[in-house]
Amino acid sequence: MAQFSQKIKRIGVFTSGGDAPGMNAAIRAVVRVGIAQNLEVYGIQNGYVGMMENKIYPLQLRDMANIIQRGGTILKTGRSAEFMKAEGRVKAAQNLKAAQIDALVCIGGDGSFRGAHALWEEHHIPVVGVPGTIDNDIFGSDKTIGFDTAVNTALEAIDRIRDTAASHDRLFIVEVMGRNSGFIASHVGLAGGAEEIFTPEGNTTVEKAVDRIKEAIGRGKTSSILVTAEGQKPGRAYDLADAIRKKSGMDAKVCILGHQQRGGSPTAADRILASRMGAAAVDSLLKGYCDIMIGTEGERLVQVPLDLVTKNEKKSQLDLLSLASILAT
Ligand code: F6P
Repeated sequence: MAQFSQKIKRIGVFTSGGDAPGMNAAIRAVVRVGIAQNLEVYGIQNGYVGMMENKIYPLQLRDMANIIQRGGTILKTGRSAEFMKAEGRVKAAQNLKAAQIDALVCIGGDGSFRGAHALWEEHHIPVVGVPGTIDNDIFGSDKTIGFDTAVNTALEAIDRIRDTAASHDRLFIVEVMGRNSGFIASHVGLAGGAEEIFTPEGNTTVEKAVDRIKEAIGRGKTSSILVTAEGQKPGRAYDLADAIRKKSGMDAKVCILGHQQRGGSPTAADRILASRMGAAAVDSLLKGYCDIMIGTEGERLVQVPLDLVTKNEKKSQLDLLSLASILAT
């Protein structure tokens, strides 16, 4: 874990990558804990894009009013190809130094943390990361901000789909977000009673799914729900529906939940996680620790070097898939 010795007076906070419900609660914690510790806190708009474009503004206690319950991020966010290049980071570092920002809190996912790690390595700007992504795919933290809300949003949708699936005796394929990781799919699938769950980590196939659905029909089941993670690009559910039709002649309705999983009011669990992590990030900077992420191990907050976070992958649990499969008989 890296340490720095210079005294910090002014910190910057920004959100980066895909937004996640609870990011505002994390910003609020950074600002209010920072000010309580006699720091000045500045917000950087649109993540690394705003850092390069000098969109850096002071934040006050009252700017944080009425945001704990709001989804999205009041600081806005972005993904930046320019910042991935050394010249982009030089521009950002110059702006931060001109604004006398001594240290940063970065709320985002692993791509954002790669940028944060580079800022420390190349420009000696101390950064602490707070994991905010609905995907929950950050190594070093059991939970990320936004995951619980996204799972509950998707679950609510599945419960509604179940009503209509049962009324019409239909097969549905519900596609959830998660790109290369199956956390949302496995949690939503288990909690929503899905017959089969397709994740990048799992090994289910169209053949297995068709067999299971046929067996279930044989036992008197009249409707089924399959859950799939989106994969590299949304639309995987349509491919699955096609494959199932070709294999079995069964017709499957497709429902892609998409970006609605990213919005909405954060659950209590996400607000609490975000508040604790935001506060811990400021506390770590005040103690001179940087180049780390605040993660969770069970209920405990931990500090994990960014190097480890960005070089390792976190896989979703396969045991949830096998349990869901037994329970959906
Ligand atoms: O990383 C969060 C996430 O919502 C993924 O689940 C999804 O694949 C991706 O972002 C979508 O990104 P964008 O909003 O840029 O389309």
